[in-house]
Amino acid sequence: MARLDGKVAVITGAGSGIGRVAASLFAAEGAKVVVADVMAGDAASAVDEIVAAGGTATAVTVDVSKETEVAAMVAAAVDTYGGLHVLFNNAGIFPDDDGGVLDTPPETWQRVMEVNLKGVWLGCRAAVPAMLESGGGSIVNVASFVALMGAATAQIAYTASKGGVLAMTRELAVEYARKGIRANSICPGPIETPLLAELLSDPQRRQRRLVHIPIGRFGRPEEIAKAALFLASDDASFVTGSALVVDGGITAAYVTPE
Ligand SMILES: NC(=O)c1ccc[n+]([C@@H]2O[C@H](COP(=O)([O-])OP(=O)(O)OC[C@H]3O[C@@H](n4cnc5c(N)ncnc54)[C@H](O)[C@@H]3O)[C@@H](O)[C@H]2O)c1
Repeated sequence: MARLDGKVAVITGAGSGIGRVAASLFAAEGAKVVVADVMAGDAASAVDEIVAAGGTATAVTVDVSKETEVAAMVAAAVDTYGGLHVLFNNAGIFPDDDGGVLDTPPETWQRVMEVNLKGVWLGCRAAVPAMLESGGGSIVNVASFVALMGAATAQIAYTASKGGVLAMTRELAVEYARKGIRANSICPGPIETPLLAELLSDPQRRQRRLVHIPIGRFGRPEEIAKAALFLASDDASFVTGSALVVDGGITAAYVTPE
């Protein structure tokens, strides 16, 4: 039996990168998937891929920072597929002008918080009642390794937002542990996706990141999608309130091998 047979999953930011790979993987594991993204065309093409591979999926256009749109996203899952069991809160932004404490513009701080932190809260807020109605569920929120340690290349709003995701997820997990909803975070290291394309296209900045990764390479989107699949599935039935670190060893290292 596939690991998500009979489950309905909503994945935000599923038009690109980690979310897109996760949408295909969850569908291949039997889930009916709501592919949610602010980029309508990307969500639609992700659905086309899933359907062509024999899976079941539908596209929803959503800005995760907008309460009514997020509520409509969850309603679409319930209306289309009859319930909700998995929410992968994956959408996130990493603007170029998110820098140090002194130089990050307040508007950038605000937008990052709206999408990366409030967006996750709104997703949980909309999903919890639907999951309770569906007999329980699993929420997987994407944080980052920078929620656990300071980054040498400052990105203060992003880091603060991801720290908030970790703390919020723990509290959500405790609140709903006896009501059949598990909630966990994933802390990815640097992954080769469009989010990091700009940073990784600069050889100096690329090398500055690479030197801190014991495994000696950047991660791949499927390596995060597989962690999300584990947390989403019943394989993780006793796992809640955890932060699963998938970072090539970054947070374990004081120095890395030559
Ligand atoms: N790539 C990395 O190195 C890395 C590392 C740690 C954490 N993460 C986190 O992983 C998650 C996915 O990142 P990715 O690397 O796949 O990035 P990506 O840029 O490839 O994909 C992000 C997706 O989110 C969507 N999105 C952005 N704003 C949105 C909004 N307001 N509403 C709905 N959708 C929105 C984008 O359209 C895009 O499809 C993010 O939360 C990111 O912070 C990424």
